[in-house]
Amino acid sequence: MTKHSWRSRHLLHLARRAWDSSRARPLGPREESEVAGLADGRLAELFWAQPVMDQRHALEAARYALATAPGRRDLARASLLHDCGKRHSRLGVTGRTLATLSSLLRISPPQRWAAYLDHARIGADELAAAGAEPMVVEFARHQDDERPDQIALEDWLVLKAADGESHRGPVDNQYDGSHQ
Ligand SMILES: [Fe+2]
Ligand SMILES: [Fe+2]
Repeated sequence: MTKHSWRSRHLLHLARRAWDSSRARPLGPREESEVAGLADGRLAELFWAQPVMDQRHALEAARYALATAPGRRDLARASLLHDCGKRHSRLGVTGRTLATLSSLLRISPPQRWAAYLDHARIGADELAAAGAEPMVVEFARHQDDERPDQIALEDWLVLKAADGESHRGPVDNQYDGSHQ
């Protein structure tokens, strides 16, 4: 289960994440095509089952990964799907913030908060059941832990940066103007 720390950089990251999540816009048609280019079948279903704020975070992470490691579609796909387990908590921004606080305060969380804090394991199990490649499953599972042996250090750094950078503020896409 995800453990959060009181480090100021981490708190800033959490605050930024909550702010970005609260402002997330639905994906536009060109963005839907970007997703389709990285995931299909069961994996696409898992992506689209997410709330809008998670879809946008995931796509921005995938874009970052692809820009940092061109041609590495496995890394982009891992970024695109790493948080698919969050949806089971059915928590909005406020609930997620409270769940995170409960982790910071080492308070035993109620069930939905616990599901949110356990999203890495839940999502990884779903991705494995959906037939995702090992890179996708292992990053989802270990996203908040130490790097697993199955992921090379240089790949791990790209994935972790993509997850963090995607919260750095609006990465406005030129196609975001029209939504369907
Ligand atoms: Fe996550
Ligand atoms: Fe994430």
